[in-house]
Amino acid sequence: MMIQYLESTKQFQLNTQNTTYALAIADDAYLLHIYWGKKLPFTDLTYLLRLKENPFTPTQNERDRACFFDTVPFEYPCGGTGDYREPAFGIEDMGGFRACNLTYLSHRIYCGKPVLQGLPHTFSEIHTPMETLEITMVDKPTGLTVLLSYTVFADSDAIIRSVKVRNDGTESCKLTRVLSCSVDIDNERLDMLTLYGSWARERQVSRVPIGHGKQRIDSLRGESSHQYSPFFALLSPQTTEQQGDAYGFTIIYSGNFFAQAELTQHGTTRAQIGINPDDFVWQLNPTEEFQAPEAVMVYSAEGLGGMSRCYHKLFHRHLIRSQWKDKNRPVLINNWEATYFDFNLEKLQHIAKEAAALGIELFVLDDGWFGHRDSDNCSLGDWKPDERKLPGGLQPLTDTVTELGMRFGLWFEPEMVSPDSDLYRAHPDWAIQIPNRPMTLCRAQYVLDMSREEVRDAIWAQMKQILDNHPISYVKWDMNRQLTELGSAVLPATRQKELWHRYVLGVYDLMERLVTEYPDLLLENCSGGGARFDPGMLYYSPQIWSSDDTDARERLRIQYGASLFMPPSAMGAHVSVCPNHATGRNTPFDTRANVAMNGTFGYELDVTKLSDEDKAAIPEQIHRYHRYSHLVRNGLQYRLGDPFGGSACAAQMHNGWDAWIYVAEDGSEALFTFVQITAEANLRSRKIALAGLQPDAQYQFEWNGQQQTMLGAVLNECGVLIPNLWGDMRSVQIYLQRVNE
Ligand code: DGJ
Repeated sequence: MMIQYLESTKQFQLNTQNTTYALAIADDAYLLHIYWGKKLPFTDLTYLLRLKENPFTPTQNERDRACFFDTVPFEYPCGGTGDYREPAFGIEDMGGFRACNLTYLSHRIYCGKPVLQGLPHTFSEIHTPMETLEITMVDKPTGLTVLLSYTVFADSDAIIRSVKVRNDGTESCKLTRVLSCSVDIDNERLDMLTLYGSWARERQVSRVPIGHGKQRIDSLRGESSHQYSPFFALLSPQTTEQQGDAYGFTIIYSGNFFAQAELTQHGTTRAQIGINPDDFVWQLNPTEEFQAPEAVMVYSAEGLGGMSRCYHKLFHRHLIRSQWKDKNRPVLINNWEATYFDFNLEKLQHIAKEAAALGIELFVLDDGWFGHRDSDNCSLGDWKPDERKLPGGLQPLTDTVTELGMRFGLWFEPEMVSPDSDLYRAHPDWAIQIPNRPMTLCRAQYVLDMSREEVRDAIWAQMKQILDNHPISYVKWDMNRQLTELGSAVLPATRQKELWHRYVLGVYDLMERLVTEYPDLLLENCSGGGARFDPGMLYYSPQIWSSDDTDARERLRIQYGASLFMPPSAMGAHVSVCPNHATGRNTPFDTRANVAMNGTFGYELDVTKLSDEDKAAIPEQIHRYHRYSHLVRNGLQYRLGDPFGGSACAAQMHNGWDAWIYVAEDGSEALFTFVQITAEANLRSRKIALAGLQPDAQYQFEWNGQQQTMLGAVLNECGVLIPNLWGDMRSVQIYLQRVNE
C-alpha cells in the first residue's frame, strides 16, 4: 500500500520508492501540507503543523481566524478570506464577489488514476500498480466542489496532482485561477532553478536564491514558449548534480503557464505551477466541470541528477504513448537547412539518393511543398502540393524515396493561416482576431481559431487527404508564432478569456485525431524550434524538435537544460553543416554526431554537397546510433559536466568540457560521451569521473585503440583520463560493457 489515511490524526501519507508526501485535515475542515522529502515510515507527522504553538485554529480561537489563514501551510490555498499569499484557486461569483474558502468534505483512496478528458495525462503500463488519493473540497456558499487528486506509481518517486472543479451550486461562477498544484515547503533557504531563453537559444539555466517575496516565470504566448519552460526546481544551496534536496515541478500542458516560488513571512516557500491565471477566466455553469492539467512533482535527495532521472523514467513509461517510444527511430534527413524554400523535385531526389546510399532511412520534406510557398509569406492553410516545384504532386518524390528503401516524412503547420491563402480568403473569421482592431502579423501569418470544431475539421480533412494518399510514416508538426489579439468570432463576450485554454484543447483534439487515425505514424512536434518542448506534447509525439540552433556547442547547453525535466530520447537533434547556420561556428563532423546522439539523431544538410570525408563517416555514425540508441531511450542518464560553467551546480566550476553517460538500468552496459569545448595549451589529461556503473562489476571498453577492463567503483570514483585534445569541440565516445569475471 502506497497511500494511507490515519483517522486518529486525520493524516494522509503517500509513500513512493524513496519519498514521503504528507498532508492532513486540521480543525475538521482545512487541508494542510505537512511534509515532502525523504521516505519515512507511516507515522504521525502532524506535530510539524505547529497548531498547538499558536492556537489560531478557528474552532479554538475564532477571533484570530485570519492569523490561521495567513500562516498555515494550505494544501490548495484560495484567496479572499485571510491567506494573503499567492492563491492556487480563485473565483468570482454572480455577485462579483471573489472570496472563497475550500473545506474538506470527503476522500477516497483507490487503485488507478483519473483520466483527464481532452488533456494529456500520465497513465499506467499494464503491470505498474498505482494508487490515487482523491480529496473532495467544497466552497459552501457557491456550491463549488474541488477534487484534488494525488497519484503515485509503484515504479516512480513522482507525485502526480490534478484538480477538477464541478459546479454543484445553482448559479454560474467564474473560475479566475485553477492552478494544478501548490506546496508550502517548510524551508526558507532554497534556490530556484528555471529554464529561460529565446528563439534558437532555448532552455538556458538560471539558478538564484529565493528572497522574500515572489519569483515567477510564465508564458502568456499561447504556447509553453522559447522564453521559459514550464518547469522549475527548488534546491538546497548545497545541492549539486549528485546530491542534495531537489524539488521539481512541471505541468503536462502546452499553453500559458505560471510557475512561482514565494518566500513568506514565516520562512516557508510556497511553490506553485498551473495554467497562467493572467487573462484567464472560465465560466462554470451549474453541473459543468473544469479540469486543470496534471502537475508532476518530483523530490530527490540525489540532487538534480536524481530528479531528472525520475522525470525521464516517468515520462518514458507513463506519458509517451507512441509505439515508437521503445523502437530505434529511423535516422532521418530533413531538407530544411539543406534547401530552405529553394527546391524542386530533381534537387530533392538527388539528396534522397545520396542519403539512401549512405544508409539514411527516412527522408523528411520540410516547409515549402504546398500552395505557392517560395518564402514564408504565403500559403499556410492550403495543404495541396505546389505543382511548380513538385510536378505531379508528392507522388513522384514519394515513389523515389520508397524505391530507395527509405520512409517518407512531411512537414505541416496545421494551426496557421497566411493572409495570402485560399483558406483565409474564404474564411477570414477563422483567424484569431478582435473585431475592428488590426491583426498583428508574425512571420507573415495568423493563428487559426483552433477552439472551433469546424476549423479543426477543415484542416483535418486537408491533412487526411494528403496522409491517406501517400506513404507517409512521419509528420513534423510545426507552430511558428505566438498568439495575439485574443478573440474568437464564436465565443460570447463573457467567454473570450477562455480562448487561451480552448485553443490548447483544440490543438490536443487535432493531435489526438492524428495519432488515433495513424497509430504507426512517427510524430515529431516543433514550434519554431523548441517553443513547445513540454510534457504535454510527449503524450502525442515521442520526439520534439529542441531548437533551430543546431550548432553542437550551443546544443550542449540546450540539451543539458532540456534534460533537466524531459527525456533525452525526446530531443530532436540533427547533424547540420558548418559554418553553422545559426552561429557561423565550425565544429568537427564527428562531434556534431556525438552531440546529436544525445537525442533522436538525424541529419539536416545537403548531403550532395558534403566532403567525401564527412560522407564516409555517415554509415559508421548510423551504425553507432542503432547500436547504442536503446541506452539513450531506456538507460539512466548521468550528467557529468555542466556546460553552463557551474551556474546550475555550484560545486562543478568548469566550462572547458561537458560529458554524460547513459547506463543500462541493470548496469550491464553504458555509453559515455565527452566533449572538450575549449582547448587549452599545456594541460594535463582531465580526470572525468563516470557515474551509475555497478561498483563491484568489471567493465570492458576500448580506449586509445586498446581493450581495457576496469572496476565500476574505480570508474565511478576516479574516472577515465581524457588527454588534452587538439582543438575546440573535440569529442570522445566510449561504449562500456560489463564482463563476468
Ligand atoms: C521552424 C522549424 O523549427 C524549422 O525546423 C523548420 O521546420 C521551419 N520552421 C520551417 O518553416
